[in-house]
Amino acid sequence: MSAKQAASSKPFLEEGSFPAHVGVIMDGNGRWAVRRGQIRTQGHLEGLKTAKKIVKAASDMGIAYLTLYVFSTENWKRTAEEVGFIMGLVKQYLAAELDFFRRNRIRIRYAGDARGLPPDIAREIREVCDDTRDFSGLQVILALNYGGRDEIVRGIRRLLEALPSGGELTEAAFRQYLDNPDIPDPDLIIRTAGEMRISNFLLWEGAYTEYWVSEKLWPDFTEEDFALAVTRFQGRERRYGGVTG
Ligand code: IPE
Ligand code: IPE
Ligand code: MG
Repeated sequence: MSAKQAASSKPFLEEGSFPAHVGVIMDGNGRWAVRRGQIRTQGHLEGLKTAKKIVKAASDMGIAYLTLYVFSTENWKRTAEEVGFIMGLVKQYLAAELDFFRRNRIRIRYAGDARGLPPDIAREIREVCDDTRDFSGLQVILALNYGGRDEIVRGIRRLLEALPSGGELTEAAFRQYLDNPDIPDPDLIIRTAGEMRISNFLLWEGAYTEYWVSEKLWPDFTEEDFALAVTRFQGRERRYGGVTG
């Protein structure tokens, strides 16, 4: 546990076995809105507020990496209105939060296929990644137009291009062709809205990730819920196929 973690952790967070990398499948925005008789986009607007709170909580807790599943390679199946709204929110968020990122030394990174994004969104992401690249605090990885299978296939393509240079194909060698090879595998993945599935998130990296599913819809998810997921993670026994005791 780092000094920063020790200083800023809530008292109910146990020391030790702190997750370095937490992934979040932020699900349930649409249901949140529909239950209130509102249109789905209202749920995304509310979901953005939760995302901001959880980024701050993860930063204060001293977590090193937070991957947010913002938009999957399958989410293009939604209406043009909903897709356009989400993309607009992302752009707005990045532009509006730059000061907050600076103050908190938060580095923004990207996972997914940027070539499939609207050019203005891709540019905004590139710029904020560049502007924050030297910050040494929490790294927030935005998974946008991200699919685990797509990441693996893009990795294989890059690997094949590099093949003439030789080298043995091992798991460690292949890992270098993933979107962010320097980032450790997620220790914990949280999914909201009660869904017990992975929905194409971090398939390679999640081989031994611990899962936590919250029944709460993403707009209702709080910092306390996030802390609870972390404490429950700390009580897990990770065996990686081995035996203990
Ligand atoms: C998650 O909420 C946000 C995205 C997938 C972009 P949903 O929009 O999937 O909400 P539900 O699952 O329909 O309630
Ligand atoms: C997963 O949620 C993708 C994101 C949260 C960005 P979905 O709502 O797309 O997943 P499914 O369709 O319920 O599996
Ligand atoms: Mg959903």
